[in-house]
Parts: sequence; structure tokens; C-alpha cells
Amino acid sequence: MGFKLISLLLLLSLLILTILSGANHYQALASVKKPHVNHRNRTVLTAAGGGGKAALKVKKQTTGCNLFQGKWVFDASKPFYDSSTCPFIDGEFDCLKFGRPDKQFLKYSWQPDACTIPRFDGEAFLKKWRGKRVMFVGDSLSLNMWESLGCMIHASVPDTKITFLKRTPLSSLTFQEYGVTLYLYRTPYLVDISKESVGRVLNLGAIEDGADAWKDMDLLVFNSWHWWVHKGAQSQGWDFIRNGSSLIRDMDRLDAFNKGLTTWAQWVDQNVNTSQTRVFFQGISPTHYVGKEWNEPRKTCDGQMVPLSGSTYPGGSLPAASVVSHVLSSMKTFVYLLDITTLSQLRKDAHPSSYGGDGGLDCSHWCLPGLPDTWNQLLYAAISM
Ligand SMILES: *[C@@H]1O[C@H](CO)[C@@H](O)[C@H](O)[C@H]1NC(C)=O
Ligand SMILES: *[C@@H]1O[C@H](CO)[C@@H](O)[C@H](O)[C@H]1NC(C)=O
Ligand SMILES: *[C@@H]1O[C@H](CO)[C@@H](O)[C@H](O)[C@H]1NC(C)=O
Repeated sequence: MGFKLISLLLLLSLLILTILSGANHYQALASVKKPHVNHRNRTVLTAAGGGGKAALKVKKQTTGCNLFQGKWVFDASKPFYDSSTCPFIDGEFDCLKFGRPDKQFLKYSWQPDACTIPRFDGEAFLKKWRGKRVMFVGDSLSLNMWESLGCMIHASVPDTKITFLKRTPLSSLTFQEYGVTLYLYRTPYLVDISKESVGRVLNLGAIEDGADAWKDMDLLVFNSWHWWVHKGAQSQGWDFIRNGSSLIRDMDRLDAFNKGLTTWAQWVDQNVNTSQTRVFFQGISPTHYVGKEWNEPRKTCDGQMVPLSGSTYPGGSLPAASVVSHVLSSMKTFVYLLDITTLSQLRKDAHPSSYGGDGGLDCSHWCLPGLPDTWNQLLYAAISM
């Protein structure tokens, strides 16, 4: 009788506290059920309740908001880190080191129309993802984003022990005290290139090479496109395409991408268990070699110092982005599309241009610090939701 009364009182006070603190369903769940949470779903509850009010606020701000619709605004607090103190930046992205004189490109924040992106907190990321494995899979745009995330986290915990291994195809960056590893698996087409008697064959129907390395991750971020438009045996890295049963010299590259990405989608549907792994697709990253897209016909990204204003790109959308949306929508696995195409199209100022250290003009990758930091901020927002 007495025990029951005390329990009832406890429950009642908990209820009142919950109401008073304005908490929602998630916080109540977190405080009542915490002892029964197992390892597998700890992240979910920590994200919703353990982070307290801040996490709840993030949830409210981002729910129902299109993070990818918005504009660039000047932000004096940027950048997230100083390139000279980040040990992971490749020369090709280290624009300041190679003499880029203008710095304003570092000082923009992406502002969605309907909400505010949560502040990136590298230490919170490490705590929330303690013991977990994150992998970026794809081409050098994956490298760009992987190094950016490494730098952003490192800037929050500059003294923590790290292990950094840069290899082909698998690189890794481990934050030892947290047991968090960020992997990079380099495979520009996602599908296989196999050595056959005729030469190197891009096999649109097969993913075997390395795909075992993608298993057992907690977070996967895929990307592919840029290599599909490379022409010439040297630059494209293959001699023939295998399309079903036929071996051909070449084909429409958008069709080939569609076919290869469909093979990837089947691989994900067959191999990824979404109760263990969250899957993202890093949307198509645009290039800025053709100034007529933004009404400066004789220009490229070279010498561009400011983003385009507004929310739309004069040059329109990219056919490859439609292929991605189409393939993702046909999957049974939920893959979150980091829809960074338009927001990146607006950043004609954010490429290495002639400051990539090799003397060429690069309007394809992005300086670090720079745009990929925003991609990671959006990734962070998406996993906080
Ligand atoms: C967490 O896992 C436990 C045990 O597997 C389960 O009973 C509970 O419903 C899960 N909670 C959530 C929020 O997924
Ligand atoms: C590729 O294969 C498909 C059938 O799977 C066929 O419809 C298409 O025409 C082929 N493309 C080329 C360029 O051979
Ligand atoms: C997916 O993972 C969950 C949690 O580990 C497990 O219970 C479930 O059996 C797995 N599903 C498949 C199809 O392997």
C-alpha cells in the first residue's frame, strides 16, 4: 500500500516535472527507460534526450524543414578551423597554403529558409558516436568531405590522440579516446573495374571489389559521378564497358551512371541493415568551368570571390542529380540524400581554382576550410534529427 503510494507520487512528480520543463515525448522516454537501453539503440536516445534541451531544440528546429533550400549569408565567425592546424588537408584543397589571396570565401554560412542548422560540435559528435565507424565511399569529392569532417572534429578536440592512415583504397582517421573512426574508401565508380584479357573493364553490373569493407559501418556516405564523364583511356581508368552480356567501347555516360548506380542500389538493398547502419548519398557536386551557366560567359571559377546571391542557380539543375533521385526513390532501403547540388552551385567562389598546388585550374573540388564543411554541418544536422 505505502510502496504503491510512493510509486504513484514519484510517477506524478515525474509527470509534473516533464510538463513543467516543456519536454516532449522523447525526453520522457529517455528519463524513464534509460536503464533498459541497449547498446544498439543508445545513440537514438542520447540524440533525443541525453543531450538535454539543446538536442530537443535542434529536433524542433529541423523537423519538417528542408535543409537544402535557402541562401548563403555572410558570417564573421567562420571558418570552422584554420587550415594550418588541421593535419589532414591534402595540398589540392589547401588553397591558403598555395597562396589564395582573398579570404572572404571562408566567411559564409548556409541559411535554410525555414530553420537554423544546429551548431557543429565535434566533441558532441565523438561522444554520441563513441565506438562507431563512419565511412565515406566514392571519389575525390568523398576525400574532400572526409578531410573536412576530420578537420572540423579535430578543431573541437585538438589535443585528443589520433591515428591517421592514408592508403589506397582504404584510409582511416581514428579519434582514439572515443573509438570513433572515419574511413574513406576510394572507388570512383562504385561498381567494379576488372582486369580481363581485353583490358580494363568497367562492369556496370558488379560490385565485389572492396564492398566487404563497406559492411558493418554505422554510417555510410556514398558518392559518385565525376568520373563517369571522364573521357579517354588514361583519364577514365578503363578500356571497355560491360553492359549486361555485351562488352562495348563506350556508351551514353548518363545511361552508364544510371546503370551503375542501380547496381549500387541493389547492393545496398541486399547488404545494408538499416537498424545498424544509416545510409547517406552525398548529392552531385557541381563544377564551375562554364561561366555562361551564371551569366558570365567568358569566365570560370578563376578569380571568383563571392557566391551567387539568392536560392536558385541560373544554369539550372543537373541531369546526374535526377538520376540519383530516381535511383534512390526506387530502393527499399531508406537512403538520406544530402541534396547539396544547388547550394554548391551557388558557390562559384569556393573552388581551389589556380590555388590547388599543381598549377592547373580546378573548378571541381573545393577549398578547405570551405564548402564541404557545410556539407558536414548538414550531415550532422541530419543525424541529429
Ligand atoms: C531499444 O532496444 C530495446 C531492446 O532491444 C527495445 O526493447 C527498445 O524498444 C528499443 N528502443 C528504441 C527506442 O528503439
Ligand atoms: C545496355 O544494356 C541494355 C539492356 O540491359 C540495353 O537496353 C542497352 O541498349 C545497352 N546499351 C548499350 C549502349 O549497349
Ligand atoms: C538487422 O539488425 C538488427 C539489430 O542488430 C537485427 O535484430 C536484425 O535481425 C537484422 N536484420 C537482418 C535482416 O539481418
